[in-house]
Amino acid sequence: MSKKIGVLTSGGDAPGMNAAIRAVVRQGIWKGAQIIGVMRGYEGLISGEFTELGPSSVSGIIQRGGTILLTARCEEFKTEEGIEQAVSHIREAQLDGLILIGGDGTFRGGMELEKRGVATIGVPASIDDDVWGTDHTIGFDTAVNTALLALDKIRDTATSHERAFVVEVMGRTAGYIALMSGLAGGAEFIAIPEVPLKIEEIAQALKRGFERKKRHFIIVLAEGVMGAYQLAQELYERTGHEIKVSILGHIQRGGNPSAYDRYLASRLGAAAVEAIISGKRGEMVGLKNEEIALTPYAEAVSRRKEINISAYELSKILGL
Ligand code: F6P
Repeated sequence: MSKKIGVLTSGGDAPGMNAAIRAVVRQGIWKGAQIIGVMRGYEGLISGEFTELGPSSVSGIIQRGGTILLTARCEEFKTEEGIEQAVSHIREAQLDGLILIGGDGTFRGGMELEKRGVATIGVPASIDDDVWGTDHTIGFDTAVNTALLALDKIRDTATSHERAFVVEVMGRTAGYIALMSGLAGGAEFIAIPEVPLKIEEIAQALKRGFERKKRHFIIVLAEGVMGAYQLAQELYERTGHEIKVSILGHIQRGGNPSAYDRYLASRLGAAAVEAIISGKRGEMVGLKNEEIALTPYAEAVSRRKEINISAYELSKILGL
């Protein structure tokens, strides 16, 4: 009998989520399954907002940012009542399984469903790239390129005015966007949550830089380290240099997904369908060295993807 598979996007949106939904729908239909879209992530499971997705419902979305299924950070799903309500809607709709597209919070939700007998497979999508079990998450590459574009523009004006800037990028607990965009953008200093911040070290580097007739000094700051305005103020007090601040914010979450994110999303979406149809459950699909790899949720949420410290150290040398 043909399978009925639900799909939802949850947590912060990420460019490429639409490409993943498209892959789930098209691969699912090709495999003879019926695909049901759940609106607003776990909120839609609780309220029973389901809609059938046919092949044409996903046409023209591979290049679009955001998610056609909408998303939410759902507090109600953290309560027993909320979860039970979600499970009863899943049973009523006779779903054989669910594909959960999101980050580690989404997979924690998946673990709750699994405990109650619902089969699920996760697809990692988050601009933060902080999920264990995949080389990258869907959306990271686009977010980094958005940040890089901004850094290049800020550098132009910084150079013209011979100014220092703090550019704040997203990442409360993960410094991957800061590290990659900062290294690629030639930042003079990168501040990430994984490395203890030494403001005096930045102040000294800034003073040295301008003494050596540098025309700009760009600090890329991950939002989780400290407030950008506070850092600028502390640096001003130590150096006497005025520091401009630019906070990139949610611009990093939108926009057309990059080629890599569309590719990754297409492969992972299709792999999730294959996994659920073959009876796998409670695992996340990832791409490791170009190969599809499955990681149990428990491992994906409990292990921390290490930051590449040598890339971080390199950024200091290259930013001299
Ligand atoms: O998880 C992705 C992310 O963009 C983080 O980098 C950021 O800290 C957070 O989401 C912001 O979440 P919200 O849009 O819910 O404020």
